[in-house]
Amino acid sequence: MRQRKQYVCRECGLMSPRWLGRCPECGAWHTLEERTLSPISAPAPVAEGEEVVAVAALDPEGESRFATGFGELDRVLGGGLVPGSLVLIGGDPGIGKSTLALQVAARLSSRGGRVLYVSGEESSRQLALRARRLGIAPPGLYLLCTARWQRLAEAVEELCPFFVVVDSVQSIYREEIGAAPGTVTQVRECTAQLLRLAKGKGICVFLIGHVTKDGVLAGPRLLEHMVDTVLYFEGERHQSYRLLRGVKNRFGSTNEIGIFEMGPAGLTEVANPSSLFLRQGTPEPVPGAVVTATLEGNRPLLVEIQALVCPTGLTTPRRMTTGVEYNRLVMILAVLEKRLGLHLGGYDAYVNAVGGVRLTEPAADLAVALAVASSFREQVVAPELVAVGEIGLTGEIRPVAAVDKRVREAAKLGFRRMIIPAGSRIAGEQDLQVVKAATVAEAVALALY
Ligand code: TYD
Ligand code: MG
Repeated sequence: MRQRKQYVCRECGLMSPRWLGRCPECGAWHTLEERTLSPISAPAPVAEGEEVVAVAALDPEGESRFATGFGELDRVLGGGLVPGSLVLIGGDPGIGKSTLALQVAARLSSRGGRVLYVSGEESSRQLALRARRLGIAPPGLYLLCTARWQRLAEAVEELCPFFVVVDSVQSIYREEIGAAPGTVTQVRECTAQLLRLAKGKGICVFLIGHVTKDGVLAGPRLLEHMVDTVLYFEGERHQSYRLLRGVKNRFGSTNEIGIFEMGPAGLTEVANPSSLFLRQGTPEPVPGAVVTATLEGNRPLLVEIQALVCPTGLTTPRRMTTGVEYNRLVMILAVLEKRLGLHLGGYDAYVNAVGGVRLTEPAADLAVALAVASSFREQVVAPELVAVGEIGLTGEIRPVAAVDKRVREAAKLGFRRMIIPAGSRIAGEQDLQVVKAATVAEAVALALY
């Protein structure tokens, strides 16, 4: 059979019979490469056979999960690892994917059973050094440094592990395919093989994938469709905390996040995440600092917002944000100017969220407004106060989702008062004083003194 030439987009995998300068699918320029396509293997076989079954007759209890040893990871996975599942962990280079995978592998192997860690990126010396630094040497953990699929498959046959880490999908390749490692064809083929391995032998596979600058898994968006679970490991490189976020999960919800801290001995779970995002050391209140309760997935997090407002030397005053949305700040400044008569036009405004966290919810609006008003007036905010609420253009405070979760978290961390939107309904007794405010002006009057 004559092999036809095809052009394949390096970024998204689009196939075209002709060369194009710009990929019509993902819009990237000069990413189409000439390929002579070799046939892709058939999709992984379904383990249970192919009969038609009534849903009512299915037994979900038959599904067993096992704990990874990291409670935070188990929660994101939906209650533990499901045997025979393929989990993709994406993240920027250097964020700690290999460290996490190695620690999980170590914890799993110390419970009995064999675990295989395959690295196509690092030498065994590098891996041994990292393992020593992390203080792990369990008897059931095996390392293999190879980028060849064939060797990986043989090792799985020899060892019969119940858990395999493949680091990374971009480095593993099949020799029979005439494409370089990391290309769409290789990545897709290796993932299809891994899927077959996982489903066929009931092995759990952790597949590590690098993410490009724009936040997509390098090359293969296709990968996300093939695997059972996609987790993203994220965080700022110069901050020590890391978030593990579920993006897709065939075995649970994707609303969960896990929080870890990177330290000299690797990753540790953070039992009390709110403590990371509050100012440490200075208990007395200062102007411009207000605590808010935000939701990350299903979890409430307390975060301190700091504002500094000072006279400008420029014709157009400067507005800068870190961790807070710029457009929300500009809107909030306009509301404060119009509804409270604060003449912010002659002042620069800098607003930060402490700890490098990124707040995307409008529920943080009220705390931003209070922090700005507090800095502008040089008045401190009442100590041990938390504020939540979305601000509307008329200066009204709109209700936020899951307000009782936020109230409970604030009470748990020892805060005494909380300003919440007037329309919110919370059930039961609270361990802290809850004050409702309908407008920003009301909230400012309640909070500043
Ligand atoms: P790594 O797991 O290699 O990242 P990835 O696989 O995502 O590329 O981790 C890289 C960073 O983590 C590295 O810059 C050093 C840091 N690190 C620690 O701070 N403590 C540790 O114990 C380890 C192993 C790594
Ligand atoms: Mg790595």
